[in-house]
Amino acid sequence: MASNLAGLVKRSVVKKQIVAVSGIVLVSFIFGHLAGNFLIFAGPEALNSYAEKIQGMGAFLWVVRLGLLAAFLTHITFTVWVTLENRAARGDRYEVRNTLGNTTWAKRTMILSGAMVFCYVFIHLNDFTFPEKVGPSTVISGVNNGESLGLFGLVWNSFLQPLRAGFYILAVSLLGMHLSHGIESVFQSLGTPLGQQRPTLLKISRIIGFLVALGFSSIPIYVIVRHYTIGAGV
Ligand code: HEM
Repeated sequence: MASNLAGLVKRSVVKKQIVAVSGIVLVSFIFGHLAGNFLIFAGPEALNSYAEKIQGMGAFLWVVRLGLLAAFLTHITFTVWVTLENRAARGDRYEVRNTLGNTTWAKRTMILSGAMVFCYVFIHLNDFTFPEKVGPSTVISGVNNGESLGLFGLVWNSFLQPLRAGFYILAVSLLGMHLSHGIESVFQSLGTPLGQQRPTLLKISRIIGFLVALGFSSIPIYVIVRHYTIGAGV
């Protein structure tokens, strides 16, 4: 039984399916996270009470986190495995790559964009998940009588730093690029019969990638524009 499973996993097509399924788990998280983050537009109470509800899930939150971590590690491990195997099968890392026709910039840079998003997540956790949601970093200067605005204040103050806002916009643009090819790949890896629909799917993947990048980018842009026009408005 165990050797059957090991044999199955060794097959290239199965590895690609594992990459696809773990990718679906990650994309589901990203959509959910984006929707939750949009609560920043509704103000501190909405964002903070949403975050408190999530923190209040206790043990279940840890199950979700571990599931997410497992999906992340699986996605990376199997991607690297498939890539190394493909290179070995071609027998030459230095072949002239076909840059015409069936390839795109997003496709050729999947490993790079994925690796950068991976690094981004650690920086991101250090920015918003690990810090205390009280104290000076959560106080927006001149707002709420100098009292803490919790997670909302932390996010707001972070994006008032131009370098950090720029870094986030760059990172989520890479994520969008990664998804624009990744979503299309999922359908191929799972063997969905596409036929004539392939160009449509490619377009849809690109639109989703673009919307994800735009959606996340809108948050730092909103913070900066609002702060320097009408203010945090709390
Ligand atoms: C402008 C873009 C983003 C904003 C404003 C944002 C905001 C946040 C905030 C406020 C938290 C902390 C929640 C809490 O501690 O209660 C968080 C956690 C997290 N974010 Fe983001 N996020 C952004 C983009 C992303 C992206 C693109 C990814 C993935 C590629 C991501 C992955 C995560 C993860 C894994 C956590 C930890 C969740 C947990 O286990 O608690 N975020 N984010």
